[in-house]
Amino acid sequence: MVRCQPRIWSLVTSQSLPCAMVVLWALALALAAGLAAARPPNIVLIFADDLGYGDLGSYGHPSSTTPNLDQLAARGLRFTDFYVPVSLCTPSRAALLTGRLPVRTGLYPGVLEPGSRGGLPLEEVTLAEVLAARGYLTGMAGKWHLGVGPEGAFLPPHQGFHRFLGVPYSHDQGPCQNMTCFPPTTPCDGICDQGRVPVPLLANLSVEAQPPWLPGLEAHYVAFARHLMADAQRQGRPFFLYYASHHTHYPQFSGQNFARRSGRGPFGDSLMELDAAVGALITALGDLGLLGETLVIFTADNGPETMRMSHGGCSGLLRCGKGTTFEGGVREPAVAFWPGHISPGVTHELASSLDLLPTLAALAGAPLPNVTLDGVDLSPLLLGTGKSPRQTLFFYPAYPDEIRGVFAVRSGKYKAHFFTQGSAHSDTTADPACHAASPLTAHEPPLLFDLSQDPGENYNLLGCAAQVTPEALQAVKQLELLKAQFDAAMTFSPSQMARGEDPALQVCCRPGCSPWPSCCHCPEPQP
Ligand SMILES: *[C@@H]1O[C@H](CO)[C@@H](O)[C@H](O)[C@H]1NC(C)=O
Ligand SMILES: *[C@@H]1O[C@H](CO)[C@@H](O)[C@H](O)[C@H]1NC(C)=O
Ligand SMILES: *[C@@H]1O[C@H](CO)[C@@H](O)[C@H](O)[C@H]1NC(C)=O
Repeated sequence: MVRCQPRIWSLVTSQSLPCAMVVLWALALALAAGLAAARPPNIVLIFADDLGYGDLGSYGHPSSTTPNLDQLAARGLRFTDFYVPVSLCTPSRAALLTGRLPVRTGLYPGVLEPGSRGGLPLEEVTLAEVLAARGYLTGMAGKWHLGVGPEGAFLPPHQGFHRFLGVPYSHDQGPCQNMTCFPPTTPCDGICDQGRVPVPLLANLSVEAQPPWLPGLEAHYVAFARHLMADAQRQGRPFFLYYASHHTHYPQFSGQNFARRSGRGPFGDSLMELDAAVGALITALGDLGLLGETLVIFTADNGPETMRMSHGGCSGLLRCGKGTTFEGGVREPAVAFWPGHISPGVTHELASSLDLLPTLAALAGAPLPNVTLDGVDLSPLLLGTGKSPRQTLFFYPAYPDEIRGVFAVRSGKYKAHFFTQGSAHSDTTADPACHAASPLTAHEPPLLFDLSQDPGENYNLLGCAAQVTPEALQAVKQLELLKAQFDAAMTFSPSQMARGEDPALQVCCRPGCSPWPSCCHCPEPQP
């Protein structure tokens, strides 16, 4: 039999197939499409960490090395207006997995710490629970950051994931200076949080290593993913893989094949390793013959942490980054790839990470949880049968309160900022409005931007009284009304962060050891 092209990417395009097999491939894909419609698709949800709108080659970065993500973007549906509701790790991850704003689930303010008493409440229904109930084999690799709690009560195995391999929070939330670099003898750029237990790598609820050697992690996660896919196929079940990479969060690390290889410094190396992992996941799907029945989604939790300067990522033409409600904090690269089902293209429709739970539930034929959802079903947009039902987006700051309510609202092409506040995460950019020194400011009237003409939020349409147009006045009236209605209807759940911390809740592989916390080291350090 003639092999058309050995490379896996060639299997999902007809343009690059030079031989007569094209017709057969097309037939096979069409058949696969027909079969897949009858059974729920496998789902691979890839979530990057602190990755900006401008960081991928396919989103305009001139020196990133992201060939696999760029292929995914070229052969899938690439979003230009995809958002997260809060530009910080914990709340963004809570929103992704529940389809609910973090103020509803209690995941505010700020982020969870290794010893936090709180976490994602078990009564919240996660995407993994929705899909597990539909017969999916569910697995998560990577960064959780939705709580540990007593006896690991909040960890993924208690939140719908049959399998978990990963770190329960960010890799800088423990002393990481001795494990982030390649080769191991190189001095590392980050010192991370001191006075805490070394970061644990958990396999389900057990510590596999504390700390793990970070440059080896990505390969470990990819192997976990391959096993999950193969096991699900063997069991004749669909699978859900939530692949939450630590890349490209500071301090960056990368394995032997990537360190100093990208041409964009440690950030670029970390991104290059993430990109290669995406390629490896696609290859694994191809090897198993599952490309036509697997929906792959890629996006990230929040914008770049520009306080790290060249180690912090890039929001491209957007304003500010992580920690703010400006576009650079909340607008993310996003791609949906499902050969034979999702046509390649670019969409400017509004979409949010909140929408993934209802969208994936619809595609899987799974019932929605009986709760107030903030997401909408985007499956018509993905499948090319309709537009996005989403017209509005509401943005909370990292430290929200019920009195001020949402800081910014987008409706159609207009976005109004009722409050703005800089963030240390967005320090060092040229624009002082992004920085921690820029205080919480109420805007009356709000700042109003037309994102279709001014995605960088440079030109306030209400900034000069003599030039305000009737359209702008009408837009601001509508946005004020939307905010008032939204805030009035919203009830905050009690804050999980307000439950405080108990150092004894930090995961330790040698309970009762001393000197704590450095003794929480497995295997034990050699003298
Ligand atoms: C977790 O538990 C599941 C089910 O018992 C098992 O198949 C898997 O190998 C375990 N380990 C990891 C890392 O998922
Ligand atoms: C860890 O890093 C610190 C600071 O660079 C260094 O002083 C210490 O010796 C290192 N510890 C180990 C076990 O390598
Ligand atoms: C959904 O929840 C509400 C209360 O939260 C309850 O009254 C209603 O019966 C529930 N519906 C179903 C179908 O379970």
